[in-house]
Amino acid sequence: AACGDSGDDGKTGSADIGLINAGTLTVCSDVPYPPFEDFDKSSPTGYKGFDIDVVSAIAEKLDVKVAVKDSDFDALQSGVLLNGRQCDLGASAMTITDERKKNLLFSDGYYTSKQSLLVPTGSDVKSIADLSGVKVGVQKGTTGETYTKENAPDAKPVQFADDGKMYLALKAGTIEAILQDLPVNLDHQNDPKEPGKYTVVETYDTAEEYGFAARKDNQKLMDAINEQLAAIKSDGEYQKIYDTYFAV
Ligand code: ARG
Repeated sequence: AACGDSGDDGKTGSADIGLINAGTLTVCSDVPYPPFEDFDKSSPTGYKGFDIDVVSAIAEKLDVKVAVKDSDFDALQSGVLLNGRQCDLGASAMTITDERKKNLLFSDGYYTSKQSLLVPTGSDVKSIADLSGVKVGVQKGTTGETYTKENAPDAKPVQFADDGKMYLALKAGTIEAILQDLPVNLDHQNDPKEPGKYTVVETYDTAEEYGFAARKDNQKLMDAINEQLAAIKSDGEYQKIYDTYFAV
């Protein structure tokens, strides 16, 4: 290799892992999606969240910097951004699915998630069975959108490009519910600016696994990511990050 594969010294030279900008792991993430990804002017990357911290810990082990690009989730999950070399890695609370695997490589799972239904507290909508004729917000290209279509065929899904805009629509009353990943809906339920106003009335145990994604022809990067994900899981760093965001 041009930059000299140093063999088994445990360091992965960035030239060996096919980065679009040598020395920097360019990460696409659809923000805001707290607690997984959110804006943070005071952080060195400009972003914060569980995904950002896990990726930063992995990047540190790989001895590369992190640059986060706020991205469209649908373009990320379809493979357009990664295969178009807009970024090296997708870190966006992205569920590993067979459909997505056709266009992307996925890492080992790093978080197990569920779907859920968020409504204004006291709403007549108390379960997915009550969604008939109801405007329910879904994020374009997500597993929540698919879940809604399959399990609430008589609902009126309203598509949003990102969760931030969808939550604004719920606050404005233009939609009556949101079907979204549980941790994100819980974040809205616990919004300190809107105490008690929104409630997660139902959760759906879809047993989704989030994975980091890479372009189809960059198995070297994925191997390096998996190796360091395993490393931070065994040295306790992953657990430390997990507890920061999901402590009970
Ligand atoms: N887990 C869901 C999916 O993969 C939603 C992910 C949305 N992520 C985001 N950062 N907006 O479809």
